[in-house]
Amino acid sequence: MKQQLEIIRQQAMQALESAETPAALEELRVKLLGKKGELTAVLKQMGKLSPEERPVMGQLANSVRADIEAKLEERKTEIYAAALEAKLRQEAIDVTIPGKAVTLGHEHPMNQVLQQIKELFVGMGYQIVDGPEIELADYNFTRLNIEEGHPSRDRSDTFYFTDDDSLLLRTQTSPMQIRVMEKTEPPICILAPGRVYRKDEADATHSPMFHQIEGLVVAENITMGNLKGALVTLMKQIYGQDAIMRFRPHHFPFTEPSCEMDMQCHKCHGTGQVDGQVCSTCHGEGWIELLGAGMVHPNVLEGCGIDPGKYSGFAFGMGLERMAMGRMRINDLRLIFDNDVRFLNQF
Ligand code: PHE
Repeated sequence: MKQQLEIIRQQAMQALESAETPAALEELRVKLLGKKGELTAVLKQMGKLSPEERPVMGQLANSVRADIEAKLEERKTEIYAAALEAKLRQEAIDVTIPGKAVTLGHEHPMNQVLQQIKELFVGMGYQIVDGPEIELADYNFTRLNIEEGHPSRDRSDTFYFTDDDSLLLRTQTSPMQIRVMEKTEPPICILAPGRVYRKDEADATHSPMFHQIEGLVVAENITMGNLKGALVTLMKQIYGQDAIMRFRPHHFPFTEPSCEMDMQCHKCHGTGQVDGQVCSTCHGEGWIELLGAGMVHPNVLEGCGIDPGKYSGFAFGMGLERMAMGRMRINDLRLIFDNDVRFLNQF
């Protein structure tokens, strides 16, 4: 029996030494120390021994068990350490490999100008508002004093959704005037930038989708002087203190009186010519049209429940692409929408 125990010890040590995985170790543990294991089998024979032999064998058996347990523990630690090391080696990061460059984009030039304009108006107390691009003809035309049959309602100019021409892609941001005025008591002071749509072929100065910025101020004693003050402040901010502007009389059904504002052409400085050729930026005009504006028509105020006897207001609507083109010296509108990085990188 002593011999049996010594053999178990010896073989166990060898087997444990060559076990390489946690699973192999577990298998050995069951085989050696389990209920049906080798050691248990030997111990079951203890009954056959004489009373003198029993404690001696018992002691030996315990020392074999203790040795096996210690060896198991030792191998377990070694195997886990080896596995960890292998894993670390496999996952090693080569910190000397050059990094991948992260190229950061930047705001689109048109959005840069929009941001500048918004900031300026917010500083003057305007609130920025947003409204639907799919609009009722009622808001886009009728309540803006644009009667049935007016040329701007023409199907050749407007994207209608319905046969009765009641729903459309807004052709201007001016319906935002109505949406704000019907819900708000004066004083009103808002700026409403957004997309508008017209059936235009795309060329250097036209696009079927473009952006406008609508401004509306309604309060007591608002005059054309307030309108001019706001717009001149804007232009000097965007184009510099020496920018030259002019106001021209014009007609809009929803403002009275109405005007348009032009900026002196930045390319030909108002002469209409560059190197003896007609200036391509202003087509020889010397001026670039930037916006329409005027004093809100009494019919429009009244239609929104605002008393024109007590309140007056001004409104303006400017083309954002036009503003950006002048500001960034861009000579073709289509470049703004092409998203060619060679173009965008320049701003
Ligand atoms: N909505 C007009 C246009 O698109 C511009 C405008 C806005 C004119 C506000 C007067 C007042 O041409």
